[in-house]
Amino acid sequence: MSQVTSVFLIGATGYIGGAVLVALKKAYPDFSYSALVRSEKDIPAVQALGVSVVFGSTDNHSLIIDTVASHDITVGTSNADDLPLSKAIVEGLKKRAESGGRPRPIYIHTSGTGVVASKPTGQLTASAQKIYNDNSPDDIASIAPEQPHRNVDLEIFAAGESGQIATYIIAPSTIYDIGHTNPVNKISQQVPIIIRAALEKGHAAYVGDGTNVWNSVNINDTAELYVLVLRYALKQNETPAPPAHKFSNFFFGSGEVFAWGDIARAVGKILHARGLLKSPEAISVEPGNDFFTAYTGSNSRSNAERSRTQLGWKPKSRSIFEALEDDVEAVLKRDGRI
Ligand SMILES: NC(=O)c1ccc[n+]([C@@H]2O[C@H](COP(=O)([O-])OP(=O)(O)OC[C@H]3O[C@@H](n4cnc5c(N)ncnc54)[C@H](OP(=O)(O)O)[C@@H]3O)[C@@H](O)[C@H]2O)c1
Ligand SMILES: *[C@@H]1O[C@H](CO)[C@@H](O)[C@H](O)[C@H]1NC(C)=O
Ligand SMILES: *[C@@H]1O[C@H](CO)[C@@H](O)[C@H](O)[C@H]1NC(C)=O
Repeated sequence: MSQVTSVFLIGATGYIGGAVLVALKKAYPDFSYSALVRSEKDIPAVQALGVSVVFGSTDNHSLIIDTVASHDITVGTSNADDLPLSKAIVEGLKKRAESGGRPRPIYIHTSGTGVVASKPTGQLTASAQKIYNDNSPDDIASIAPEQPHRNVDLEIFAAGESGQIATYIIAPSTIYDIGHTNPVNKISQQVPIIIRAALEKGHAAYVGDGTNVWNSVNINDTAELYVLVLRYALKQNETPAPPAHKFSNFFFGSGEVFAWGDIARAVGKILHARGLLKSPEAISVEPGNDFFTAYTGSNSRSNAERSRTQLGWKPKSRSIFEALEDDVEAVLKRDGRI
């Protein structure tokens, strides 16, 4: 009995999900693909990829449970913080496992390295020196439950522990560059925030002294990581067993390290050269309880050793600084400024 392997993607109109859907389809062209779309206007762009559309919202939990239960593989890229959605996905996976007759259901979830972020002080403090390694289950187990995304991640780890269903978590760092082949949204989150904040404030800005660091990852390399995790998951499914360790199916998507102050200075120069700022200079702002501080003021330090050694992941695309000019251009276009 051989049936076509089916994939359900949640978040296809988004930045990560669009790139992941295109990359999976290219790597596994014989699988069948469905994607959740909540806005009618986006249906044609997703269908144009050769993907069936499931029309609805992630808030419709009965729809999520039933759709997950009718696919072999589910990939979630819509929201790293939606606990009720994750519970519905897990319920759908269990339902499929219990109905029997098909391979063990696979779920690939998107978290983020915000899960290891420090307090956003805009400084590379001593307490933020720790680099979390995905190849060390003790490191991953030690992440505090109050950290961003962690409540959802813990739900996913627990669901995969018995081996009845197979769960994997990918935690990308700061993703940058344009999702050229994405059906709808082609731009990321944190870099656009720095660009928009500079335009709003009239000068480029960074939190504190701007020495706080994150890792970065190109959108192309991010999409490739999902392909490699799926390949690994399919291989694991040949002899289904519980994961080696509760926290071992966890993969950082982390490449080069950068300081947020350096991004702000580079953005200042680019916007000044375009005549959109009076000065190229980037200015320090006090950490606050605001969006800007939350997204650009912390440290987040991670090492994707498991992604590299266990999956053979090799980030190879251009750097965050090399992509910045194009990222600025894309944000200006999206916001109707050019
Ligand atoms: N971008 C990064 O650098 C990065 C790095 C690490 C982790 N993450 C995390 O990954 C997640 C996705 O990030 P992203 O940059 O890809 O965001 P995005 O471009 O905003 O994409 C979000 C996707 O989820 C869909 N979605 C959201 N709420 C939905 C709902 N109620 N029903 C149906 N679909 C819904 C959106 O649909 P619509 O198009 O209809 O809005 C869109 O397809 C976020 O949780 C983010 O924190 C992002
Ligand atoms: C949830 O999805 C089901 C199945 O498509 C649909 O019949 C129902 O109307 C949806 N519920 C809401 C509140 O949209
Ligand atoms: C990313 O992939 C797209 C589509 O395959 C390609 O056009 C683009 O040049 C790639 N970008 C980088 C930086 O590798």
